Amino acid sequence: MKHTKKYKWHKVAENIGEINFSDNGLTEIKVADKIICIAFRNNSLTACTQKCPHAGGILSDGFIDAAENIVCPLHRYKFSLQNGRNTSGEGYFLKTFPVEIRNEGVFIGFEENNLFNWLK
Ligand code: FES
Repeated sequence: MKHTKKYKWHKVAENIGEINFSDNGLTEIKVADKIICIAFRNNSLTACTQKCPHAGGILSDGFIDAAENIVCPLHRYKFSLQNGRNTSGEGYFLKTFPVEIRNEGVFIGFEENNLFNWLK
């Protein structure tokens, strides 16, 4: 059986230039009462939870490594920005969100009917 995820899309900016990234290519942004982390690297945008799944490190204060993992500033665990996989092998999982750049602006998708939507 094919499972298709449904997303509720939230506009976060008119365009990429409107998003104020730090020198590390990361920033946090408020979307529908949640703070999330947005990453800009190699002309693409990705998004994930702001807090590290290990012990709550603020991921927008970390950095993006050469393999395009986000690296947590607290204990340096690494997570793929594409799928949230814990590429340094500690067994955690980072929630990521789809990002779409449309003519009308930049949109972040939150899964509908997902328990995560109640968490911050
Ligand atoms: S809090 Fe992020 S690696 Fe420990």
